[in-house]
Amino acid sequence: MALTRTLSLVIAVFVLEAAAHVTLTFPPARGLPIDFLNNFWSKPPCGMPKKGSTRTTLVAGSTFNVNWQLGYAHIGGYRIELLDSRERKLVDLTPTARGGGFFPSNSTNQWHRVSLPKGLQCKDCTIRLLREVKSFDPNFNFWSCGDVDIIEIPNYVERCSGNGKYLDGKCVCDDAFWGRICQFKDECGTDEQCGGRGGKCLYMGGTNLPRRQCFCRPGFHGENCLALNPIELPDPSHSLNLTGHTLQILSDRMILYYKMIPHEITKNQEIEFVLLVNGTSWAALGFRPSNLGAICKSWPFIADALDPTNSNAIGTRKTRQFGPGSPEQNVGSEYAAKDVFSMMDCTDIIVGSAKGSFHRIRDHYARGRHTPIPDNKWGGTDDVTASTGWEKDGVTTLIFRRKLRTHDVADHPIHGEMLVTWARGQEPGEYVRDPNLRLERDEPRVSGFYVRDELKYHGLGDQKGFLYIDFQSKISRVPGINADILQ
Ligand SMILES: *[C@@H]1O[C@H](CO)[C@@H](O)[C@H](O)[C@H]1NC(C)=O
Ligand SMILES: *[C@@H]1O[C@H](CO)[C@@H](O)[C@H](O)[C@H]1NC(C)=O
Ligand SMILES: *[C@@H]1O[C@H](CO)[C@@H](O)[C@H](O)[C@H]1NC(C)=O
Repeated sequence: MALTRTLSLVIAVFVLEAAAHVTLTFPPARGLPIDFLNNFWSKPPCGMPKKGSTRTTLVAGSTFNVNWQLGYAHIGGYRIELLDSRERKLVDLTPTARGGGFFPSNSTNQWHRVSLPKGLQCKDCTIRLLREVKSFDPNFNFWSCGDVDIIEIPNYVERCSGNGKYLDGKCVCDDAFWGRICQFKDECGTDEQCGGRGGKCLYMGGTNLPRRQCFCRPGFHGENCLALNPIELPDPSHSLNLTGHTLQILSDRMILYYKMIPHEITKNQEIEFVLLVNGTSWAALGFRPSNLGAICKSWPFIADALDPTNSNAIGTRKTRQFGPGSPEQNVGSEYAAKDVFSMMDCTDIIVGSAKGSFHRIRDHYARGRHTPIPDNKWGGTDDVTASTGWEKDGVTTLIFRRKLRTHDVADHPIHGEMLVTWARGQEPGEYVRDPNLRLERDEPRVSGFYVRDELKYHGLGDQKGFLYIDFQSKISRVPGINADILQ
């Protein structure tokens, strides 16, 4: 126990810097799609229970690509395994010279062609990806599992993953779906799917899903740009009037302004944030109460056994009642991450980006150091009440409002002193690396692994940081410690 603890602390020092990593996209990973599940801090064999996950049907003896996405190009190989219905390893699907070893790979590789054994039917089985992260620890692996049924040809009917029609021997995919069997989903296929007059469906040009995403025109916001801004927000043709806002400098290249907006009727105030970023990629602002304890990492409560009172298949408890006085009912989620409490844990994160005069600003949550996940995937809602943004002359302006109290499971009330975290995406041409940690001795081989506005690892140095702000009293406290070490 003592040894385990020492080991995790040692590793934590290295790991704290790097968030965002590996998830299977085909066969799709079990929900929740957290990309920081690993063999050090999550429950074997996958970090997520099988209950309630989507299953992919495959044909015995067939050959296909297993795909995954990466938030960070860690150095290391991978191994793909087939697990039986009791999650015990049946066979390696990658050639493993050393028997149980890893297939060497360039750090940006995101797929591998595998062949299933002939004649092997396998009901309720699992494909598991193990990805080495040599810079963390020689034995550290991210893992991600996708559940499958493997059946014989006579019983197989091509259904194009339920997302298209099988015509003349191939799948014709519905809007927004693509891939040989329509196995991948974009956020939109056409501008129409971004609210019609509300937005544009833009191709991100990166390596992760969704490849196409909705960016909203001024006056609209939210999922698929369906929501109308209830008030008029500034636009790029006028200079911003920020006289009523409080200024907080975050870095040489990122400035935050904020202002309370009183609400006469509900008395539930809103807060308006204005982020000015010298950069053209995404930017994010996160918060959690500064006195929140590590107990919050137990949410969502994920358990093997389904809680009968719970409507969510994997047991995400809808109520989240924790805080300084940490109630016991949240303790003991066996699927909670067991790493040290980090700056990104249990954080409400608003992620925004702009392309020209179109913007995308969305409410996210991060349980840990994984890529933030939109609130609706946690059983919550997007609680940005109005937003706009634009990118002009290399500077991104993002404006958004949120109620101080949203009563959403995936949000924290903004009250009292908050730990405020911020980050921005890597700027093309200014790719940030850290030779001291030697995370990237191997050059990424996919040119443009980081593209503008694609939500991936933010990088080091002044790409990210944290401070404490009491938004109501306009008091901020910049921590007197090296933000690079603590993330
Ligand atoms: C890296 O992996 C990708 C994906 O498999 C592949 O397309 C590419 O050729 C590889 N590059 C090198 C230099 O090995
Ligand atoms: C800027 O906003 C303040 C109130 O926040 C207002 O008093 C002032 O007139 C505005 N200035 C301009 C130039 O619009
Ligand atoms: C943005 O940052 C770069 C690099 O520090 C600097 O050269 C440039 O002048 C900055 N642009 C603005 C608009 O501040």
